[in-house]
Amino acid sequence: MTDDRTNILEMRGITKTFPGVKALQDVTIHVRRGEVHAICGENGAGKSTLMKVLSGVYPHGTYDGDIVFEDEVVSFRDIRDSEAKGIVIIHQELALSPYLSIAENIFLNNELKGPLGLIDWNKTNHEAASLLARVGLRENPTTKVRDIGVGKQQLVEIAKALSKRVKLLILDEPTAALNDEDSDHLLNLILHLKEQGITSIIISHKLNEIKKVADSVTVIRDGKTIETIAKTDVTEERIIKDMVGRDLEHRYPDHTPHIGEEIFRVEDWTAHHPQDPSRVMVDAVNLDVRAGEIVGIAGLMGAGRTEFAMSVFGRSYGSRISGRVFVKGKEVKTRTVAESIENGLAYATEDRKTFGLNLIDDIKRNISMAALGKLERFGIVDDGKEFQVANEYRKSMNIKAPSVLAKTGKLSGGNQQKVVLSKWIYSDPDVLILDEPTRGIDVGAKYEIYSIINKLAAQGKGIIVISSELPELLGICDRIYALSEGRITGELPIAEASPESLLKLMTMEKPR
Ligand SMILES: Nc1ncnc2c1ncn2[C@@H]1O[C@H](COP(=O)(O)OP(=O)(O)OP(=O)(O)O)[C@@H](O)[C@H]1O
Ligand SMILES: [Mg+2]
Repeated sequence: MTDDRTNILEMRGITKTFPGVKALQDVTIHVRRGEVHAICGENGAGKSTLMKVLSGVYPHGTYDGDIVFEDEVVSFRDIRDSEAKGIVIIHQELALSPYLSIAENIFLNNELKGPLGLIDWNKTNHEAASLLARVGLRENPTTKVRDIGVGKQQLVEIAKALSKRVKLLILDEPTAALNDEDSDHLLNLILHLKEQGITSIIISHKLNEIKKVADSVTVIRDGKTIETIAKTDVTEERIIKDMVGRDLEHRYPDHTPHIGEEIFRVEDWTAHHPQDPSRVMVDAVNLDVRAGEIVGIAGLMGAGRTEFAMSVFGRSYGSRISGRVFVKGKEVKTRTVAESIENGLAYATEDRKTFGLNLIDDIKRNISMAALGKLERFGIVDDGKEFQVANEYRKSMNIKAPSVLAKTGKLSGGNQQKVVLSKWIYSDPDVLILDEPTRGIDVGAKYEIYSIINKLAAQGKGIIVISSELPELLGICDRIYALSEGRITGELPIAEASPESLLKLMTMEKPR
C-alpha cells in the first residue's frame, strides 16, 4: 500500500528566465500521490511556465532547480520524455487537429499498428471507443474533432492522456472555455480519475472550481511560491489575498449608470449556418443599447451569442444574413469588418488566437492595428506616437511584458486578452461588443477590466457584454438579454435579474 502522504512530485528551487523576464524564481512545490493539486496566481505569475518546465516543453538545461518524480531526479529533453514517465500536459490552448477524427487525434504520433506496420483502424477505433467511455464522452470515434464543441474536445484530450498511461495529469485552465455543464463533467472526471489513482495538477482562475476539486492549492505570485494551502484551510479570500498580495473587498466596482439616447439597434437579425443553410443560428433578433448603458447577453453554449456578434460585425456568416443595424439612429452597413469599424462598432472576440491578435507581431502594433488611421501623418504611421499610445495602455491595463515591443505570442494568456481589449478600446468605437472579456483573466485583473468597462460607459459608449458567467453579468450590467436557440427569450433590467430568472430564459425552448 502506498502511503498517501508520499509525494509523487517535487519541484525544487525552479528558476526560469526569458530575455528580460524572470518568469520563475526559486519555485518549490510538492504534489502528493493521488491528490488534485491546484496552482493559482495572477496572469503572468508563471503557472504555465512552471508546468512547461515540468513536462519538458522547456528542456532540462534551460532552467535551474530539480524535478523529482517518483523519488527519482528527472531531466527531460522534451515532452516525449516526460510522457514516457507518465506525465501528460493538456495546454491552455487546445492542440487537437480539427480535420482528424477523434480516434486519429487520440493516437496521433502513437499509432496502433498491425503486423505489417500499417495503422490498424479497427483497433484504433475500438480502443478509442473504450477510452471515450472512460471519460464519459458519447461520440463516434470517427467523428472529426472540428465537429464537436470545446467541452468535448477537452475530454478527447483527456482520453488521449489516458491512452498514454498517465500518472500525473496536468490541466492548464481546462474549463476556461467551457460552459457550466461541461465544466462540471470535467471536474467530476478529474475526481473520478483520482479514485483510479491518477494525480492531477490543475490551473484555473475559477476559484469556486478549485475549492470544489483541489486537495491543496499552491499560490504563486510574480514567479515566487507564496504558500501551499491544505483543503481544510482553502477559502477564496485566502487564495485571492495570496495572489494579489492584499485583500480584495469587492469583486465588482461601483457603477452608477448615466443612460442617454439609443446608440445601437439591431432589427430582425437572422443568420444561417455557413455550411448548412437550413440551420438558423440567429433567429430574428431585436436588441438595442443606449449611450452609457452596459447590456449583457446571457445564453448557454450554442445559443448563438457569438454567431450574433460575429455576423453583426461582418466577420462571418456573410452570405446568409438579413436584418438591419442602426448606430445613433442611422442605418449602417456592416457586411465587412472594415465597414463595421468605419461605422463605429468594435468586437473583441472570445477567440483571441484566431481572430483577436497577430501573435508574431508586437504589443504595440496589435494595439494600434484597428485604428492605424489615427496614427498616420501623410499616410505614414508615426512610430513614436504608436509607441507612446501602446505604453499608455500597457500601464492602464497593467499588461505584464518587458516592453511594448514584446511579441504578443510570448505573453501569458490573460495578458494577451488585455492586449485584445486595448486594441478595441483604442479604436474608439461608439459601440463595443465584448465577447467573454474576462475569460482566463485573474480576479484582480477582472476588477480592472470592469472598471475600464464602466469608464467607457461613462464616456457615453454603448457596451454589450457576452458572458457565460452569470455573476459577472449580474455584477456589471444595467440590463440583460437572454438568448436561447438563436432567439431572444427575454430581457431583464438589472433590478429584476437573478441567476434563476436568467437561467429560466436561457433554457426556454422553441415551441415545436
Ligand atoms: N516564451 C516566452 N518568452 C518570453 N517570455 C515569456 C515566454 N513565456 C512566458 N513568458 C513570460 O513569463 C511570465 C509568466 O508567464 P506564464 O505564461 O507562465 O503566466 P501564467 O501564470 O500562466 O499566466 P496566465 O494566467 O495569464 O495564463 C510572463 O511575464 C510571460 O510574459
Ligand atoms: Mg497560463
